[in-house]
Amino acid sequence: MFKLVKDISSLSHDIIDKYIENKNLAIDCTLGNGYDSDFLSENFNKVIAFDIQEMAITNYKNKNKDNVYLIQDSHDKLNEYVKESADCIIYNLGFLPGGNKEITTMKDSTMNSIIQALDLLNEGGIILIAIYSGHNEGAREKTCILEFAENLPKNKYGAMKFEYVNRNNNPPMLLCIEKK
Ligand SMILES: C[S@@+](CC[C@H](N)C(=O)[O-])C[C@H]1O[C@@H](n2cnc3c(N)ncnc32)[C@H](O)[C@@H]1O
Repeated sequence: MFKLVKDISSLSHDIIDKYIENKNLAIDCTLGNGYDSDFLSENFNKVIAFDIQEMAITNYKNKNKDNVYLIQDSHDKLNEYVKESADCIIYNLGFLPGGNKEITTMKDSTMNSIIQALDLLNEGGIILIAIYSGHNEGAREKTCILEFAENLPKNKYGAMKFEYVNRNNNPPMLLCIEKK
């Protein structure tokens, strides 16, 4: 294995670890199997995690993590549920590995959520978005999100993508948006 060119989830965790100074609140917008929430739970005072699938929420509830608050609803309702600002907001888009591939994140709700996330983010905070373009909806999400990120005001946000260049079959990509 490589030290730097690893899977994008591990890379996103390294970035959070090194570059987010205040680790009070993190929001996991796509709980899934809980890999990201586990990491956030160990590193932040409080985590709020969203998923539309009951199975994801129930499985995570059984872990009894004191500082993780679970919400079974769509992440495009961030503003309805979250009333405090966050230091880190993470998305792992697509469908649950090993689950129903029909239940996937969708470009419109993903975009709505990201727009709300930008407002909720503290200065110095980072949004990390793992994008999987190997399926149709994922390809649409990628186009939309990148176009949006390219047009973010440069004086307020830094946006950077991490992409594999020598892998085949639409490898995943990590997009990071940092608020100044
Ligand atoms: C790729 S998985 C996430 C993997 C997860 N981060 C992990 O560590 O296992 C994507 C998840 O997003 C969820 N999802 C899809 N649309 C959603 C939405 N609108 N709001 C919240 N979660 C959604 C799916 O149910 C699925 O569990």
